Amino acid sequence: MIMEHRHHGKSSVGFLDSDEILCELNFKGNETFMDAGCGDGHIAIKALRDYIPEGRAYAVDNYLPSIDALNDYKKENNLENLIPIEADIAEGTGVGDDSVDVLLMLNVFHGFKASGQMDEVIEELKRVTCDEGKIVIMDFKQFEMEYGPPVEIKSSPGELGELFSNHNLKMTYLNEDIGQNLDEGKSHYLIIFEKE
Ligand SMILES: C[S@@+](CC[C@H](N)C(=O)[O-])C[C@H]1O[C@@H](n2cnc3c(N)ncnc32)[C@H](O)[C@@H]1O
Repeated sequence: MIMEHRHHGKSSVGFLDSDEILCELNFKGNETFMDAGCGDGHIAIKALRDYIPEGRAYAVDNYLPSIDALNDYKKENNLENLIPIEADIAEGTGVGDDSVDVLLMLNVFHGFKASGQMDEVIEELKRVTCDEGKIVIMDFKQFEMEYGPPVEIKSSPGELGELFSNHNLKMTYLNEDIGQNLDEGKSHYLIIFEKE
């Protein structure tokens, strides 16, 4: 590991607007969605309830208490199309090749810069995403904030564009005006990558 960075059990539910994020993804309603590094899974649950009622959502995290809680939630709410998966994304999610239409990684990717696993993770995201699918990375902008990861492990959209292009994934959309309002501007960027 290059730099220790712990983020198990954290959630963006208190500071990001899930509708602002999910509206960016232009769902039709029957997609297979993956919330990669889902934490409490609030994005996957919101997506199933309001955006993809005919679809399904994989909620993947390597923190077992989060996955146990999501399995309990699934049972209590008869949410059959929620599929919680305990897995380390850098080692493989176990989900089939080309099976995901829209994959969102929200406030997670910076952790793989810290651990030096960005290439493995991009390959796994690419493997599970179908040819016409979208890989959506939303993360903290590369300046100091009172919360979030240290600036050294944040990446700029340009850095991510270069990194993903090494895996034949091209940036097809960039929104740098999303997230919380801070004195410096908005807190986040959202990038969509597609297969070339
Ligand atoms: C800052 S939290 C964000 C959670 C959620 N995406 C959100 O925005 O509310 C980062 C999440 O990524 C998960 N995570 C970190 N490394 C992971 C890995 N290698 N594989 C799967 N999940 C991972 C953590 O357990 C944590 O739940």
